[in-house]
Amino acid sequence: MTDPDLATLFADVRRGMIPAHIYNDEEIFRLERERLFNRAWVFVGHESEIPHPGDYVVRRVLDDSFIVSRGEDGQVRALFNMCLHRGMQVCRAEMGNATHFRCPYHGWSYRNDGRLVGLPFHRDAYGGEAGFRRKGQTLLPAPSLGTYNGLVFVSLDPEAPPLRDYLGDFAFYLDYYTRQSESGIELRGPQRWRIKANWKIGAENFAGDMYHTPHTHTSVVEIGLFREPKAEKRKDGCTYWAGSGGGTTYKLPPGTLEERLRYVGYPDAMIERMKANWSREQLDVVGRDGFLISAASVFPNLSLVHNWPRVEDSDDVLPFISLRTWQPVGPDETEVLSWFAVDAEAPEEYKALSYKAYLMCFGSTGMFEQDDVENWVSLTSTAGGSMARRLLLNSRMGLLEDGGNVVPPLTAEQFSGPGEAYVGYGEYNQRHLLSRWADCLERPPAPVRQVQVSRPDGGGTADADSDTDTADAAGTSATA
Ligand code: FES
Ligand code: FE
Repeated sequence: MTDPDLATLFADVRRGMIPAHIYNDEEIFRLERERLFNRAWVFVGHESEIPHPGDYVVRRVLDDSFIVSRGEDGQVRALFNMCLHRGMQVCRAEMGNATHFRCPYHGWSYRNDGRLVGLPFHRDAYGGEAGFRRKGQTLLPAPSLGTYNGLVFVSLDPEAPPLRDYLGDFAFYLDYYTRQSESGIELRGPQRWRIKANWKIGAENFAGDMYHTPHTHTSVVEIGLFREPKAEKRKDGCTYWAGSGGGTTYKLPPGTLEERLRYVGYPDAMIERMKANWSREQLDVVGRDGFLISAASVFPNLSLVHNWPRVEDSDDVLPFISLRTWQPVGPDETEVLSWFAVDAEAPEEYKALSYKAYLMCFGSTGMFEQDDVENWVSLTSTAGGSMARRLLLNSRMGLLEDGGNVVPPLTAEQFSGPGEAYVGYGEYNQRHLLSRWADCLERPPAPVRQVQVSRPDGGGTADADSDTDTADAAGTSATA
């Protein structure tokens, strides 16, 4: 596409008229890879997945594989999973515990903090340390790494702003999902599967699409999975956008904070911990304003969901929390990684039922999941045709012809959270998300510099300095 074509495309996106082909277009995907995913903070896992020294998970940012590991020093690192020798993937397992990673190709081995410690036939092949000095050689670290409430993000941009600045006011809302107690969350999963759909569609849907619920998910309401008798109930909630993310809420019936949290199924002990860990404003969104957060997305591809279905044959409901990433595979395919999350201090019985609630609704077999994905696959395949290049999709819900809003934003008296919030149906958040997308794609790509692989402190270990041919004898090593 030429620059004027792109300028028109971005202008259309910003006014809520979306060129349909952006949901299945090789050229757009190339720009996303180069200008968006090479810069943005991308969620790769949670610290609770790697609680002990040596624990690791392997996660991707598009085609770049990272070993997210906890070293013997307790520090979490994201190491580019490519051997310094000939580029083989050093770790082929998805998760595990290892003191060392040994490359399957020729057997170079690395400590779980990335340091190269072993080369087979070091003396014969390289002349020992005189020919190739192991000291200071390490697997390439992710250019930037940041954590918030144990959520681990990486950015391929060494100049990325600090994660906390990037999240901005959305951190206020992240706490509802990830800080219900001092101990934070623990994760189960991820479940992982691929869908023939563009990654943006899910991110937009979770950010703000309350409008699809009454139609796409009618059957879920019909079978009585929810306490609310009608899916249209969603129009009483509000959508909000703050910092790098936005989401949807449900309007709760009148009552105190405690009554409202009990209404969705939280036991009193968990409510007490929320009261101790959330700010006055965070508590007021629920207790004073009556809004409880539901689905949300953090730009670009992390989504969260919080809901409270009936899990057993009774009137009782129980909440669950889930996190997921929309990991692009190509313009028409996405790998979904979906985790169940729960407050680490929740009672065991609660955790078991909450997991059941999650599986019923989301995850690879969830009822919502199945309803949603058929729409997105259909949309994506049609967006790849030539007619889609002539069509601007209408994503202007909540806007009048003259650009004004159908309803005014909520005032500080009506909504205690930061950012901009509106009651009712509207595509405010989809427009926010895609405007951020346009901002990224409009910027020239960041220069990619080669990195000299060495530790600034030149640090090595005893075995790195020794003249042994291999240094993988101690501890466990992961090679497969
Ligand atoms: Fe040769 Fe890894 S590619 S040891
Ligand atoms: Fe849905």
